Amino acid sequence: ADPDALQDFCVADLKASISVNGFPCKPASEVISDDFFFDGLSKEGNTTNIFGVNVTVGNVRTFPGLNTLGISMNRVDLAPGGENPPHSHPRSTESGVVIEGRVLVGFVTTGNVFYSKILTAGQMFVIPQGLVHFQFNVGEGKALIFTAFNSQLPGSVIVPLTLFASKPSIPDEVLSKAFQVEEDVISGIKSKFGS
Ligand code: GLV
Ligand code: MN
Repeated sequence: ADPDALQDFCVADLKASISVNGFPCKPASEVISDDFFFDGLSKEGNTTNIFGVNVTVGNVRTFPGLNTLGISMNRVDLAPGGENPPHSHPRSTESGVVIEGRVLVGFVTTGNVFYSKILTAGQMFVIPQGLVHFQFNVGEGKALIFTAFNSQLPGSVIVPLTLFASKPSIPDEVLSKAFQVEEDVISGIKSKFGS
C-alpha cells in the first residue's frame, strides 16, 4: 500500500538524477495523453522457460503515469503445466481475475495456513499483502490472468530464486540446515537456476 498523492498526477521522470521515494515528476507542460495509457499488457508473453510462465508488468517502471497513484497491474501468461512460482509482494496486496484456463491459486498465511482454489474464466482471487502465493496452470490449454496491486511498484520476492539464485549465493550450509538436506542437494538445486 502506497501513500496518497499530493497532486492530481506526477508522471515519473525515470531518468532524473535525483532519487526520492518513488520518482520525481516530469514537468506538467510536457505531460501528454499517452502518459496515461499503456498497451504493454496487450501481448501474450513468451512462456518458454523453466517455470512455463511470463509475467508482464505494468508498474511505474514500465508505465510512468502510475507514479504516486498507488496502483499497478500485471499480465500473467501460463503454458500448460506452467507455474508462477511461490513469491510475495512486500509492498502490496494483490487481486486477480482469470481470463482463460484453469488455474490453482494459493497462498500461505503467517500462521502457516494454506488457502487455495481452482479458478476458471471470470473468477477472482485476493492475496493479502506480503504473503507467499503462486498460480499453477492445471488446465489442458494455456491460461491467462490479470492481476492488480495497491502499489505502483509491489516488488516481487520469488522464493526459489531468492534462496537458490541470489548473487552472491547464500552458503550451502545455511540452506542445508534450513531444508534439512545434504549440501549436494542444495548445490543441485542451485545448478538448475544457473548458480
Ligand atoms: C501474480 O501473482 C502476480 O504477481 O502478478
Ligand atoms: Mn503475485
